[in-house]
Amino acid sequence: MSKKLYIKTWGCQMNVYDSQKMADVLSTLGYEQTPEPEGADLMILNTCHIREKATEKVFSDLGRLRDHKEAKEEKGEKALIAVAGCVAQAEGDVILSRAKYVDMVFGPQTYHLLPEMILNAAGGARVVNTDFPVESKFDHLPVEAQAQGPSAMLSVQEGCDKFCTFCVVPYTRGAEFSRPVQQVLDEAQRMVDGGAKEITLLGQNVNAYHGDGPNGETWDLARLIGKLADMNGLQRIRYMTSHPKDMNDNLIAAHGEVAKLMPFLHLPLQSGSDRVLELMNRKHKASDYLDIIARVKKARPDIALSSDFIVGFPGETDEDHKQTIDIVQQVGFAACYSFKYSPRPGTPGAAMGGIVPESVKDARLHELQALLFAQQHEYNRRSVGKTMPVLFDRRGEKTGQLQGKSPWMQSVYVNAPERLFGEILDVTVEKAFQNGMYGTIVTIPDSNPSEKREAA
Ligand code: 5AD
Ligand code: SF4
Repeated sequence: MSKKLYIKTWGCQMNVYDSQKMADVLSTLGYEQTPEPEGADLMILNTCHIREKATEKVFSDLGRLRDHKEAKEEKGEKALIAVAGCVAQAEGDVILSRAKYVDMVFGPQTYHLLPEMILNAAGGARVVNTDFPVESKFDHLPVEAQAQGPSAMLSVQEGCDKFCTFCVVPYTRGAEFSRPVQQVLDEAQRMVDGGAKEITLLGQNVNAYHGDGPNGETWDLARLIGKLADMNGLQRIRYMTSHPKDMNDNLIAAHGEVAKLMPFLHLPLQSGSDRVLELMNRKHKASDYLDIIARVKKARPDIALSSDFIVGFPGETDEDHKQTIDIVQQVGFAACYSFKYSPRPGTPGAAMGGIVPESVKDARLHELQALLFAQQHEYNRRSVGKTMPVLFDRRGEKTGQLQGKSPWMQSVYVNAPERLFGEILDVTVEKAFQNGMYGTIVTIPDSNPSEKREAA
């Protein structure tokens, strides 16, 4: 009989990818995923530590999982609770001592060891594994249990050596690591065989990619993208998240040369002030960022730009904040994420003086977001009346609706039959919102005539 697996995922796309991989590993042990924790034999919280209150959120969810575990135990059955991901990596000991009912705590680099960990936990041991094993988890993964769909995520790089002073990633994900080229190509081929038309290459610092090529040479991200572009059936390639320092000439050129590479670049800037960038250890100046953007635009004039910003980093003055506002005005973003600084235990930023009061952070975030949201709305408004190819990768909230992505990463909603899910079709945009656009498919294709014949 199959066992039930519940996984809740927080955080970035890499965590979503990891959860999928955990489900793949566990499917080899007979676990099938269920959307609710009720009755599950194994419950995993795959956690994120990047911003505030992560640990508290985990504890409040753990309380709920405990009820499910106890309900199962009352029936004489066993259930295991696991905390995975970056909170587990950073605060494993705290979790085990505060929540006695947690059976397993393991970090993001160890999920290939799940079968062994489960065996130990089922035998009554409390399992902790927050190592950075020498062997790569990617070398020990089963072939995917199920396809991801028309838009797939592929992790090619993990960890980070940049040590920005606000960021936990170098501590929770470990040193920078790139998967070998052939391994990436094989997984991409399986994704395409499973129906993927778009692949997003993922990594905390994905443009630092330097994977071992088949002939012993090192490939950069541009070369990997170039090779993927030769893959029949694959129509769109994206990558995220990048660091300005690693935006090399090859990658910039690829934006002009590789038609399948979508015209969208997520390139975090974090602050417009050189003083703050230095305190953040970002290793570049605001003018370097502007220079990169100018070169990318030269290669691909219609590129849509996106970024991350942090307001209220220790020592940030009103003048520093104004420089962030100024650069946002100067660049003009199609989309953006912006956050209030939240000190992460163990990072250099957490020990810095010049703490910015919460009320000041709130005001700065409010001002920045008002500007970024207006830019996003304006960017979408400029698409009204235009026709563009949209990949329908999500079902809409109501039946008869589909949701998709434009080449520039805008969300596009249409009324369309379910059978068009997974297709790339031309859509004329009619309305723009801050968060997306509404449009009409130019020509709705007939349902496949060969299917009709088979059905007849
Ligand atoms: N506080 C606020 N935002 C943070 N980010 C990373 N660490 C922190 C932190 N301590 C933001 C950065 C990064 C994005 C993924 O999350 O902007 O680019
Ligand atoms: Fe974190 Fe990105 Fe800086 Fe690496 S480059 S430390 S992942 S913010």
